[in-house]
Amino acid sequence: MPDNVTLRIDGQSVTVPAGTVLTAALAQAGKQRMRRSVSGQPRGPVCGMGVCFECRVTINGQPHRRSCQTLCEDGMEVRTDD
Ligand code: FES
Repeated sequence: MPDNVTLRIDGQSVTVPAGTVLTAALAQAGKQRMRRSVSGQPRGPVCGMGVCFECRVTINGQPHRRSCQTLCEDGMEVRTDD
C-alpha cells in the first residue's frame, strides 16, 4: 500500500495519506460545499457516518456517492456541484 494517494477534486490535484476518507481530502482542498439542494442551497457534510447524504459528490463519473463513506484512491476524479 502506498504512503500517499493523489486524486483530483474539481480539477485540483490533492495528495493525502493512504486511507484518508474523501470528506477529509475535500476539506483539505478547501471544499466545504459538496452539492446543492433542489432549491440551490449549498450542502456539506453533517453526520460524517453515512446517514444524512449531504456529502454526496460525483466520483469517477458516478453521481451521488457519499464522500464520508469513501476512501481516497490514487487517480480518483471527484466533482462537487460547487
Ligand atoms: S456526512 Fe452524512 S452521509 Fe456523509
